[in-house]
Order: sequence, then structure tokens, then C-alpha cells
Amino acid sequence: MAPLLVFMFVLRSLSEASKVSQFTKTNVIYDTCFSTDGMQEGSTRDDTDCMIDCSDNVDCKRLMYCSSEPSCTSYIDGNDCITDRETVNCTCYKKDMDCNESGCDCPLGYYGDKCEHIFSDCVDAAEHGVQQEALVSIQPTSATEPFEILCSGGWATILYRTKRCQPENFNRTLIEYENGFGNVPRNSWIGFHHLLSMLSFPWSQFTLNIFIIIGDHSFCQAYYSYFTMASKEEGYFFRVGGYYGPDANLCGNSMTGVGLNLEYVPFSTYDQDYTTNNHCASQYGGGWWFADNENCSRSFLTGTMDGSGTDNFWLDDLGNVKFRRAQIRILRTIQTDE
Ligand SMILES: *[C@@H]1O[C@H](CO)[C@@H](O)[C@H](O)[C@H]1NC(C)=O
Ligand SMILES: *[C@@H]1O[C@H](CO)[C@@H](O)[C@H](O)[C@H]1NC(C)=O
Ligand SMILES: *[C@@H]1O[C@H](CO)[C@@H](O)[C@H](O)[C@H]1NC(C)=O
Ligand SMILES: *[C@@H]1O[C@H](CO)[C@@H](O)[C@H](O)[C@H]1NC(C)=O
Repeated sequence: MAPLLVFMFVLRSLSEASKVSQFTKTNVIYDTCFSTDGMQEGSTRDDTDCMIDCSDNVDCKRLMYCSSEPSCTSYIDGNDCITDRETVNCTCYKKDMDCNESGCDCPLGYYGDKCEHIFSDCVDAAEHGVQQEALVSIQPTSATEPFEILCSGGWATILYRTKRCQPENFNRTLIEYENGFGNVPRNSWIGFHHLLSMLSFPWSQFTLNIFIIIGDHSFCQAYYSYFTMASKEEGYFFRVGGYYGPDANLCGNSMTGVGLNLEYVPFSTYDQDYTTNNHCASQYGGGWWFADNENCSRSFLTGTMDGSGTDNFWLDDLGNVKFRRAQIRILRTIQTDE
């Protein structure tokens, strides 16, 4: 039996080799949340079978093959595979660019005759047709290399917290806050280096959005139509203006509200705590724009979400309610004239 099987396998591989795209092995990452972003999941004979299916579909950009079932999951975006399964017998592959005489099928984020261009940000992605929520590779002009970010209709998610997934430690050093951490797009922070590279898009303005899900059917939003961020030398302080939100589901203004204005306040972490009198970062854990007074902040989205320490909060106007999910997003808006 065995030799025949091998023979058939080789035959099939040869006959179909011209149709199969090239794949590069990437990482399988364990997380507790069930991955719902799979495009298609089903049983499969082997990894070649799984790759043939993905090759046939121009929208398939990545796949995960697990040999124990065996199963094949294909995805419309991304590089790595996040799964809540036993990862040991699973392998993640991303599809390489796939060219023929009439053009190339590029990884999500890349375009051009030879996939030589890459989206500079989520607005660029939206303008090239990536409107749905997707994990996109982007490279702002000032960034040294591409990185993945969750884009949705031009919005870029810079912070994502969810109780659904494995808790991520947000009590981190300033260097970690600069480089970013977590499993994008699950519990993660994109990092100041990436954030500043997106904000340096020439002649542009940015809108900031806070999106909080509280209960099953309850969420709120807060927007600031103007948002800028200072450099490392200035402690990554922010400025915002034009606070607004949907009347019915307004979170409230906990960034610059009457209680405490956090503009011009440097970002503190336990190892770089600017609140020398009140030690806010050490006290709360997590990094935030803490003011050096007894109240530290009216907002805090880098706390724990599992009751093990200081939880996330947005005091105005949510008081002490606990969140199920929180996101901070930016949108490039006005392209001002030179
Ligand atoms: C992984 O595959 C090996 C070899 O097929 C098998 O012995 C093992 O039980 C599998 N592990 C899991 C966790 O499925
Ligand atoms: C060439 O690639 C394009 C996608 O880039 C695809 O639509 C087309 O079917 C391919 N043509 C052949 C002959 O494989
Ligand atoms: C944050 O982490 C630092 C370093 O491990 C630790 O000293 C500090 O107690 C932690 N803070 C909180 C609030 O957990
Ligand atoms: C801290 O908060 C309390 C209660 O809201 C307020 O009365 C007090 O003035 C605040 N302290 C500072 C320094 O803002």
C-alpha cells in the first residue's frame, strides 16, 4: 500500500505543480479566543491539498493546516495564524506573490505589476479597495519595514483589548511600548514607533476614536477630530481637539474633560514614570498619560481586564463599569494643500 500511495502523491503533485502557488511557513500562535476570521474551514487530505485549494482562490492569502484532524483553514489576510487549538500539529503558511503573464496576485497590502508597492496606511488600503476589517501589511514612508495592522474602512487600530482572548500583560517597559506587543489584532498595542510613522504622513490630520464594548448589546464611542503626538524626547504627549460622539452612545471625555486634562502629559510606564510624586504607573500598572497628581487619570485602557489588578476605566461618563472590549483607532482625514 505505502509505495502506491507515495507514487500517487508524487503524480498528483507533478500534474498540479503548475497551479500551486508558493507558500512560506509562518508562525502558529496560541491564544484562547476562537479565531472567527477564517475564510473557510474544512477537512483535507494533506497540506498539499490545502495549498491547492488556497492557490485556486485569489482571496486566500494564508492558511493553517493541522495534521491531527486533518483540517485546513484559509484566510483572506495576515501572515501568522492565531488559534485556540493545540498548536503542535498545526502549520501556518502565507501565500507568496503569485505571478503569471497577465499579472501578479499579491499578499494583502502589496500591489503593482510585480507587487512592488505597499500600502502606506489604512486609508491607502481603503482607497485601493480594502474596506472590510482585515489584517493588512502597511509601510508608512518613514517606517523602516512593513508591519501588520488591523484596518477597517480606513481606520487603523492601535490598541485592542478584549476579554474574549488570552489576557496580555500591559504592565510593560517603555521600550516595549515603543516597539509594540501582543498578538495583533488580538490584545495588543501597535507601539509608538509604528504610531508615529503613521502620524507623520505629510499634510494630514488625524481623528482619534475610542470604542468601548460594555455588555452584550451596549457599546459607546468618543471621537476627537484632531489628534497629534509628540516625539520620544517630549515623552509622547498627545494633543486632541474637537471632541464629539454619537448622541446615544457617547463614552464621555476622559482624556481632556473638566476633571483632568491629559494633554501635554508625558506617557509613563513603571520603568519611566514621569509622575515622580504620585508614582501613577507603578500604582496602576500599564502605560498611560498619567498626570502627576492624586487622581493620575480619568481614563486608563492598559490595565488588567481579569480583575487581577487595576482594571481599565473611563470615568467620564462610564464610572467604574467593566469593559468587554476596548479599541483606540486613528483615521487620516484632511490632506491639506502644500
Ligand atoms: C501530533 O501528531 C503526532 C504524530 O502524528 C501524534 O502522535 C500526536 O498525538 C499529535 N499531537 C496532538 C496534540 O494532536
Ligand atoms: C493569472 O493571474 C490572475 C490573477 O493575478 C488570474 O486571475 C488569472 O486567472 C491567471 N491566469 C492564468 C492563465 O493562470
Ligand atoms: C508592574 O511591573 C513591575 C515590574 O515587574 C512591578 O514592579 C510592578 O509592581 C507592576 N505593577 C503592577 C501594578 O502590577
Ligand atoms: C481629584 O479628584 C477629586 C474628585 O473628583 C477632586 O475633588 C480633586 O480636585 C481632584 N484633584 C486634582 C488635583 O485634580
